Amino acid sequence: MWSRLLGRARYDRPMEFDFGMIGLGTMGRNLLLNLADHGASVAGYNPSAAKVELLKQEGAGKPVEGFLDMKLFVASLRKPRAIMLLVPAGAAVDDVLSKLDGLIEPGDLVIDGGNSYFKDTDRRFKALQEKGIGFFGMGVSGGEEGARHGPSMMAGGPSDFYERVQPLLEAAAAKAPDGTPCVKLLGAGASGHYVKMVHNGIEYGMMQQIAEVYDILHRGLGWDSDRIADQFGEWSRGAFGGFLLEITATVLHHKEDGKNLVDSVQDAAKQKGTGKWTSQEAMDLPVPIPTIDAAVSARDLSSLKDERIRASQVFPAFVTAAPPPVVDQLGTALHLGFLATYAQGLEMLRVASNTYHYGLSIAEVASVWRAGCIIRSALLPEITRVFTNDPGLTNLLADPKVAVFAAENLGGLRTVLAAAAAAGIPAPSLAASYNYIIGYATPRLPANLIQAQRDFFGAHTYERVDKAGAFHTKWGQE
Ligand code: 6PG
Repeated sequence: MWSRLLGRARYDRPMEFDFGMIGLGTMGRNLLLNLADHGASVAGYNPSAAKVELLKQEGAGKPVEGFLDMKLFVASLRKPRAIMLLVPAGAAVDDVLSKLDGLIEPGDLVIDGGNSYFKDTDRRFKALQEKGIGFFGMGVSGGEEGARHGPSMMAGGPSDFYERVQPLLEAAAAKAPDGTPCVKLLGAGASGHYVKMVHNGIEYGMMQQIAEVYDILHRGLGWDSDRIADQFGEWSRGAFGGFLLEITATVLHHKEDGKNLVDSVQDAAKQKGTGKWTSQEAMDLPVPIPTIDAAVSARDLSSLKDERIRASQVFPAFVTAAPPPVVDQLGTALHLGFLATYAQGLEMLRVASNTYHYGLSIAEVASVWRAGCIIRSALLPEITRVFTNDPGLTNLLADPKVAVFAAENLGGLRTVLAAAAAAGIPAPSLAASYNYIIGYATPRLPANLIQAQRDFFGAHTYERVDKAGAFHTKWGQE
């Protein structure tokens, strides 16, 4: 079937496969099986015999083959070839590309489905383009489950090459509530990987705010993990519910030897870098994404475990009062916190699209996130509608309905922050969301003083609200 759709001869020989995958880890293997379920004949390559064997076992009865030899793998693919890479970002991608050099030919297509840094994608695109080989970056989100049964896929690059694999990707992708496949060629160049980077930044922001609410319920209100799990379960089915809240409930409920396992997990968060890149890139644009910045810093702080223990021993107690019960407001806080995080990420994408000439539609980005990906939530269909109705909208919080909702519910978030502060529980991302919302809606901020200070010590000049031009003053010498 796919042979026909991909514009090739009918699949008739066992050693001619429609689609190839390099990297048979959890994501690569499961995505390949998903593609095979949708009628494509597929081949996978991995240098590990165990991984190739696992693919063959799980693909038994399907048009699936595994290879330990890169040359045989490439030779088994129908021309022009379509090969996806799902290998760790960084040197491994360059290593695979150099191994493919000489094996693949002009007209072939290589898709990098990993979490590659977008500037690497630009570089690789140019190098392969010179050889007549198509290349595009595509963020794949949804973890093991998504890869197997429907991920969200964010592609960026040349449309002629994308169109070749579009029907197959659409068949394998998650479907939004209205049935639309959650895969799209979102824009030019490395935009697919850029969008996936920001997706992950939003993921960091949402996870951190969930963790802060968990901390307030756990240490602040003294709830046990099962009770907290039930609360997260309830929220996951509500207005701002979604994947991350669902898995939080499941994780909190999980028992090992009769005890909630989460209570035994070390409190030092690791990271592979996409959240950090989001913050770094946002600073370069520059676009404020304080909720995400705070989430990256919170992971960094969490990993200073030994230092934190030592500091806690010399620090005088800083809990000043028992927190008032804030359960209802905690839900409101998460709802607003999520909205603020999406607003920051989407604004970053709008500015990046202008800067890098990606041609992104923010409505399309939001629509691709509606299902399959880690940050999917009940908020995204509405966010998609907001940007579809007003494609020029600068920020989600500037939408009148969203703005009124945020204003009416700010009190809940404020109460939560006050309770956390009183209980000595850090809530950096929730606080960042709060300050972002009110800062965004404040017509006059104290930056006038900063400008005056800069002009004082560096003669940097300042602008005035009452006259045009750049001014310098000998401050203090009236
Ligand atoms: C996804 C995830 C996925 C992965 C992150 C984890 O969309 O499926 O984002 O890409 O889970 O890379 O990132 P950290 O290791 O940095 O938390």
